[in-house]
Amino acid sequence: MHVALTGTPGTGKSSVGVALERRGYVVIDLDELARREGLIVGRDEARQTDEIDVDALRRAVRVPAKIAFLKGHYSHLMDVNLAIVLRCRPSVLRSRLEERGWPEAKVRENVEAEAIDVILQEATSRLPFVFEIDTSNTTAAQTAERVLAILQGKREGHEPGSVDWSDEVLSWY
Ligand SMILES: Nc1ncnc2c1ncn2[C@@H]1O[C@H](COP(=O)(O)OP(=O)(O)OP(=O)(O)O)[C@@H](O)[C@H]1O
Ligand SMILES: [Mg+2]
Repeated sequence: MHVALTGTPGTGKSSVGVALERRGYVVIDLDELARREGLIVGRDEARQTDEIDVDALRRAVRVPAKIAFLKGHYSHLMDVNLAIVLRCRPSVLRSRLEERGWPEAKVRENVEAEAIDVILQEATSRLPFVFEIDTSNTTAAQTAERVLAILQGKREGHEPGSVDWSDEVLSWY
């Protein structure tokens, strides 16, 4: 079982990854793997992000355990059985990203992507099993427990569409 741990930047993939590692699970950091394998193929200066050769990365991934998590905001584009999309209320995500000192344009782009479910849509368009977890009001440890519960089949309330930011989005207009 290979599980994508995905979500908009700031939704908590790395923090939850650490919590899962503490519980003994294998977590593969795709950004680190891409760097190690020389698969960073460019730099998007406007977005201040690295461009990764996702197809080459998919071929490069070697999973050393029966159950493993692939962590990264493009992990749902890898060969995985299931994706967990971490979600965060846009107003909360904005605070998390501002705390990082990111420029306003980069904060806004990511908050908007979260608001309109970009990663969820990408994941559901290619994978049969996708579940969402709202991290807005929980800790990383609690989120890790939810991830494990979903893998054990407790999926109710986490189906695609269970998270809905439209109340907040409508308040922008
Ligand atoms: N329930 C939660 N689960 C995970 N992280 C949370 C949660 N609540 C708050 N956070 C906080 O959200 C912040 C962003 O988390 P993190 O850096 O793990 O995001 P990320 O998804 O890995 O981002 P990136 O894609 O940029 O690497 C951290 O400061 C973390 O402590
Ligand atoms: Mg991270």
